[in-house]
Amino acid sequence: MSKIKVELFQIAAFVAFAVLALHSASAQDAQKQAAKRPPAATSPSAGQRAFESTCSPCHGLDGRGGERAPDIATRPEVTRLSGQDLLKILREGIPQKGMPPFAALGSAKLSALLTYLRSLQGKGPLAPVAGNTGRGKELFWGKAGCSACHMVDGAGGFLGRDLSNYGENHSASEIRAVIVKPEITAGTRGHVALVTAKDGNSYSGLVRNEDNFSLQLQSLDGTFHLFSKSDLASITYRQESLMPADYGSKLSDADLDALVAYLASIARTKQKRGDEFEY
Ligand code: HEC
Ligand code: HEC
Repeated sequence: MSKIKVELFQIAAFVAFAVLALHSASAQDAQKQAAKRPPAATSPSAGQRAFESTCSPCHGLDGRGGERAPDIATRPEVTRLSGQDLLKILREGIPQKGMPPFAALGSAKLSALLTYLRSLQGKGPLAPVAGNTGRGKELFWGKAGCSACHMVDGAGGFLGRDLSNYGENHSASEIRAVIVKPEITAGTRGHVALVTAKDGNSYSGLVRNEDNFSLQLQSLDGTFHLFSKSDLASITYRQESLMPADYGSKLSDADLDALVAYLASIARTKQKRGDEFEY
C-alpha cells in the first residue's frame, strides 16, 4: 500500500479520532451557501409563497427556526435527509411533537415546498466541477488513502467526517482548500486522547464522553471503553489535525481536481436519487 496509508496506520496505532458531528461548522457553511445560491428554478415563487404562509409562522421566514419550531434550513440532521424522507415528514407531520401533517396540500404544492426548502438549505442546482470523477474515485479509495479515514455511503474509516454529503454544502474551491490545508478544520472532530490505566495498559481513541469521574473512549476499531478516572494514571489530549497535511505537494493539480469532482459527484447522484421521484 501507499506511503500515506502506512503513515496513517502508524499514526492510528497511537491515536484515534473524534467523530463528533460538525454542527456549528457545517451550519455556517450551509448558511454561506444558502446566501450565495438563488432558489432552484422549478416554480420557486409558488414554493416560496406556500412556505411563507404555511411553514414560516413556526420555522421562520428563512427556515432557520422560530419560537415554535426548529431550524430546518441549516441543521445537518435535516439537510442530509433525502427528498423522500422530507416529503414523508411534510405529508405525515410529527403530530405528537407539534409538526402538523400537510398531505392535504396536495402533491404539486408539496413538491414546490420541497424545492423551496432545498433552496433555503443551499441545495439549488449545483455548479459544474472540472476534473475526472472516475480518477477521483480511484484515488479516494486507493493511492490517496482518503477512505482509511473518511466514509462514503457506509464504507470507509471513521476518523474524519463522513463525506457522502460533503459536496452538497461545499463548493469545489472549499473542498479543494480543505484537502490541501486540512488544518482549516483541525480540532473540529473533538479530541483524541491517550490514556494510561494504573494497571499499566494504555488505550487511545476519540473522547466520546467525559465528566469529573469517568471517561468514555472509542478506539480505532470502533470499540467503546469506559474508564473510571480513579483507575487512570494519565490522560493526554491531542488537538492537531490528523489528516495528512501534504496532499498539496503529493498530488498533482489534476489529481486534486479529480478528487474534488468525485466528492461533488457523490452529492449530485444523491440529490438525483433522493429528490427526483414521482410525486
Ligand atoms: C405549528 C407549527 C409548525 C408548522 C406550521 C410547521 N412545522 Fe415543521 N415542525 C414543527 C415542530 C415543532 C417540529 C419539531 C418536531 C420534533 O421535535 O421532532 C417540526 C419539524 C419539522 C421538520 C423535521 C425537522 C427535524 O428535526 O427532523 C421538517 C422538515 C419540517 N418541520 C418542515 C416543515 C415545513 C416544510 C412546513 C411547512 C409546510 C412546516 N414544517 C410547518 C412545527 C411546525
Ligand atoms: C489520517 C486520516 C485522514 C486521511 C488519510 C484523510 N483525512 Fe480528511 N480529515 C481527517 C480528519 C481527522 C479531518 C477533520 C480535521 C481534523 O480535526 O483533523 C479531515 C477533514 C477533511 C475534510 C473537511 C471535513 C470538514 O470537517 O469540513 C475533507 C473534505 C477531507 N478531510 C477530505 C479528505 C480527502 C479527499 C482525503 C484524501 C485525499 C482525506 N481527507 C484524507 C482525516 C483524514
